[in-house]
Amino acid sequence: MPKLTFLVTGQTHEVPAGTKFLDFCRKNNAPHDFGCTVGSCGTCCLTLESGAENVNPATDDEKETVEMCTDVKGARLGCQLVINGDIAVRPIER
Ligand code: FES
Repeated sequence: MPKLTFLVTGQTHEVPAGTKFLDFCRKNNAPHDFGCTVGSCGTCCLTLESGAENVNPATDDEKETVEMCTDVKGARLGCQLVINGDIAVRPIER
């Protein structure tokens, strides 16, 4: 199963492939903040320090929100992520 690592705490969890990051976080009280949960507020912005290739590609709408929130290259919205392989995430401070 894919491994999801929260670099902010060092916690690693095994999750079934296809798990939505948002769903996992909600069910497990994970250390990541969300706001709107629909890809428009940017609260959930994060970087994938490894495994960027192991998630769904960003849609144009996601890219637009990310660009409004941060200049960090490769940033993603946690609420839009689907986990398909090992990833390590770190929130982006706003
Ligand atoms: S929670 Fe608002 S963009 Fe993800």
